[in-house]
Amino acid sequence: MVGNGLEETKWCDTVNVLFASAEFAPLVRVGGLAEATSGLVHQLRSDGVDVEVVIPDYFDTPLADETSVSLDVPDWAGPAVARSGMSEKAGPVTFISVPGVQRPNPYVDANGDGWSDNPDRFFAFSAAVGALADLRQPDVVHCNDWHTALTFGFLPGGVPTVFTIHTLGYQGWTSGGWLDRIPHHSEAFERHGGTNPVAGAITLADRVVAVSPNYADEIRTPEGGSGLHEEMIALGDRLVGIRNGIDTGVWNPSTDAFIEADYAPDAMAGKSVCREKLLDAVGWADSEVPVVGVVTRLVEQKGIDILLDTVRYADLMPFRLVILGSGEKWLADYARHLATEFPETVAFHDGYDVAFGHEIFAGADLLAMPSRFEPCGLAQMQAMEYGTIPVVTAVGGLVDTVIDADLDPEIGNGFVSQSVDSAGFVDALHRAVRAWSDLGRRGAIQQRGMKADWSWREPARRQIEMYIEIVNRKS
Ligand code: GLC
Repeated sequence: MVGNGLEETKWCDTVNVLFASAEFAPLVRVGGLAEATSGLVHQLRSDGVDVEVVIPDYFDTPLADETSVSLDVPDWAGPAVARSGMSEKAGPVTFISVPGVQRPNPYVDANGDGWSDNPDRFFAFSAAVGALADLRQPDVVHCNDWHTALTFGFLPGGVPTVFTIHTLGYQGWTSGGWLDRIPHHSEAFERHGGTNPVAGAITLADRVVAVSPNYADEIRTPEGGSGLHEEMIALGDRLVGIRNGIDTGVWNPSTDAFIEADYAPDAMAGKSVCREKLLDAVGWADSEVPVVGVVTRLVEQKGIDILLDTVRYADLMPFRLVILGSGEKWLADYARHLATEFPETVAFHDGYDVAFGHEIFAGADLLAMPSRFEPCGLAQMQAMEYGTIPVVTAVGGLVDTVIDADLDPEIGNGFVSQSVDSAGFVDALHRAVRAWSDLGRRGAIQQRGMKADWSWREPARRQIEMYIEIVNRKS
């Protein structure tokens, strides 16, 4: 489904934006980047902003009403072609093809190792985005993460620009040899003799957006800045934190076609039906033991090992874990091992399954996110939209969205572990289980989560105000 299902207001039809990303749901989705870019673009479009979405042509995806244009890029980045048209699943889109871009997975080979020519592929893509901007002359160029960061070295200057940081940990570092290939401001990309795309992008962009206010604070510290904290501090108010939203056209328990029964804050019966369906799917008996859902990529960032370490405490204060995810082998092996040893406590589905993901958000009682760091995080907001109480660590955007219901009983919507370790997380989990077992508290916490506005409406309004401000300033 395209769009956020909300009434369209079209209040901003004066700005057109060239918006470049390595992922865009549902066309190409590896992580939260895909959901965040597509959710934002749908809202911008329904607010009237004219957005051209530009993504790499990884899979030679067919388009209706296609037009194409070849782009004027340096020899090493060509031939480069932009194909624009209508995607059935994603609306209007422009695919860029450059040498080496077509691969079965955007970033990694079958063993999970990064393609060795990733710099070549994404730098050629970035050069092509710069050439496309030259052709289209948009009001704003908006780039996302390191894959598009070199674009700023291919813009002659003058056009207002935004760079959004979804994860600062990946900066696209590579050898200094690339610097000679960057036609504009190449010095901005130089760090310690190497090429650092993100360092250049944050230096050159008119605005740098971090995907939550707390993440904007964290990346100004040595612990959170991944080597760039001084640059982040120097940005002053050019660095802004704007929390992501969720696409409420996709994530809405009253319209979700993937779930067993619809429900809404004032009609919650359907949630119990979804719970039964989930228990059925994993072969567990219906009992009062709460079901903790986990929907995640299995990578160190997400802290799944921290959660799995808590399983040995599960009989002290019973809970059961349903985990859906794929990723690093050691984490999948650990989850599989526990599921075999404790089949009544841990169920593990190794893979990526859109429908089962929705069933978990709807059918689980609690959702666990033990992240080591989390620039924004979307699953905690999706969970709250579905009346599933989040249990999280106090990092990044989780701090901006989840309020601990023991610390703040009047407004709490979840449970927060102040430390990023199993002892802290098991405490938060136990506090959540206790609250969930009290029907009055459970209902109040669920209602607060469900009634809050997690949509992209407000975050998109802030992005539009930012576009208008930088356009006015430059003209
Ligand atoms: C990355 C971050 C995640 C964020 C997402 C979208 O995946 O790890 O926290 O929500 O990008 O911005």
